[in-house]
Amino acid sequence: MNYNVAVIPGDGIGPEIITEAKKVLDKIGEKYGHKFTYTEVLMGGVSIDATGVPLTEEALETAGKSDSVLLGAVGGKVGQSNWYSLPPHLRPEAGLLAIRKGLGLFANLRPAVLFDELKGACPLKDEIIGDGFDFVVVRELTGGLYFGERKTYEENGLRKAMDTLVYDENEIKRIAKWAFEIAKKRNKKVCSVDKANVIDSSRLWRQVVKEVSADYPEVELSDMLVDNCAMQIVKDPKQFDVILTENMFGDILSDEASMITGSIGMLASASLGDTKLGLYEPSHGSAPDIAGQDKANPIATILSAAMMLRYSFDLEEEADRVEEAVKTVLKKGYRTVDIMSEGKTLVGTKEMGDRITDEI
Ligand code: NAD
Ligand code: IPM
Ligand code: MN
Repeated sequence: MNYNVAVIPGDGIGPEIITEAKKVLDKIGEKYGHKFTYTEVLMGGVSIDATGVPLTEEALETAGKSDSVLLGAVGGKVGQSNWYSLPPHLRPEAGLLAIRKGLGLFANLRPAVLFDELKGACPLKDEIIGDGFDFVVVRELTGGLYFGERKTYEENGLRKAMDTLVYDENEIKRIAKWAFEIAKKRNKKVCSVDKANVIDSSRLWRQVVKEVSADYPEVELSDMLVDNCAMQIVKDPKQFDVILTENMFGDILSDEASMITGSIGMLASASLGDTKLGLYEPSHGSAPDIAGQDKANPIATILSAAMMLRYSFDLEEEADRVEEAVKTVLKKGYRTVDIMSEGKTLVGTKEMGDRITDEI
């Protein structure tokens, strides 16, 4: 079968990690008789340089017509890149928000799993890690602060800035359903994270999530305040199965969750909506500090490609195969610099990609 994949390398380490993920997909294609046809799409800083905007209408249309989208990362070093002298809606990150919104991808899944092989790279103590943890952050992706009205203005001689956090009940309902559906197939626990002790949107969030939970009696629902959750993730990550939360909280908590899996370079992500079309990207950014040095860990992107096989193409066995290949390479002791520990073998981006490809 032929799958049309829109590929967005983006900026910084984006092209390097995307090259490795494509290698892995091609090997899967060879092995299982699928064909992945790639159409390159410009987004982020490279698109600004070429077209003046971070995402053109045509680019969005190409992505929308594909079977799925694979993304590296966008953005540059704030303060050192010309892209940040542009108004906010023309900066690289605006392209990312526009494609998420434009494709209706409101559900962002970020699985935080500690592979046995990476216990040495996890900053937590052995007694906390125990036999590992496995939870998923289900982050609302097209609402909240990211998409509310905002302005920078002056009042009474003072510079002011305002952002608004709005959710309607339908936006909360649909993401909550996702979380419960996912929990049903896992350990049947949803922890909904909010700031209901202070903000109204969180109070509505908590209420609506509770209402949705009535349809899922087999799933246990708990609520947690976001500051406490940030602490609990490092105190006892094993307690979590599915963390359901709004856009900004999910952004922050998922970076925190990534670090306890060893590195931000390990955290995959899938952004999904009502159709099979998904956007698959690592949770990390364009890492301008290591771009072009063959240092970036490609595993988050490769695991995102595995999520694409699973969620967009229903290729379960193939997805398992990619995940197994990653584990095998880690078991053999190969590490990029971000997950390096004593006694292991240091490899670059390309070698890590090659080794994973060879294991497939
Ligand atoms: P970042 O995630 O790019 O980097 C943070 C740190 O993690 C850096 O030290 C970096 O070297 C390291 N790191 C990130 N990915 C890595 C990998 N695969 N392997 C090894 N180390 C890795 O975050 P930042 O520096 O805050 O942001 C840089 C740019 O990326 C900004 O413009 C930001 O807006 C953008 N960004 C884009 C996305 C995306 O495209 N999805 C996500 C986050 C940040
Ligand atoms: C992420 C990134 C993006 C976000 C930025 C670059 C807009 O941090 O995907 O986590 O905040 O969603
Ligand atoms: Mn982020």
